[in-house]
Amino acid sequence: MKNVGNHNSISRILLFSLALMLSFSAKSFSQAGDPAAGKALFNANCAACHKLDAKMTGPALRGVTGRHSSEWLHSWIKNSQGMVKSGDAAAVKIFEEYNKSVMTSFPQLSDADIDNILAYTA
Ligand code: HEC
Repeated sequence: MKNVGNHNSISRILLFSLALMLSFSAKSFSQAGDPAAGKALFNANCAACHKLDAKMTGPALRGVTGRHSSEWLHSWIKNSQGMVKSGDAAAVKIFEEYNKSVMTSFPQLSDADIDNILAYTA
């Protein structure tokens, strides 16, 4: 009887740890994005105008998630001129700071693609 009881509690602990591990990895995928996938997307779409640590045509992007909300960044990357034209204060400010250079719009990038790019800049 004693052995059976021990065995059950050990498998309960194992199952619990497994569930915990699974929920952690699912969380980090959905929230933080994948920096390796983001690097490839960054090089293909953004590197012509942006570096992580130096200004080029556009601002250095390292740490940009600390300067704007995720919602703002998603709409900016999909259609920055749309935001400038709507009068969004932060969008107008950065557009004027960069002498009204027009950033390419990326309506084809999915929210997951953008989260991956942002994970790479973090
Ligand atoms: C053709 C050049 C160009 C490309 C390509 C480009 N950008 Fe930009 N980006 C700019 C410029 C210029 C600005 C400054 C604002 C403006 O003038 O519109 C900017 C601003 C930004 C900002 C705001 C930064 C801040 O500090 O507020 C973010 C975020 C950004 N770009 C992300 C991206 C991402 C992500 C990509 C690739 C998917 C990308 N950009 C591709 C030129 C570009």
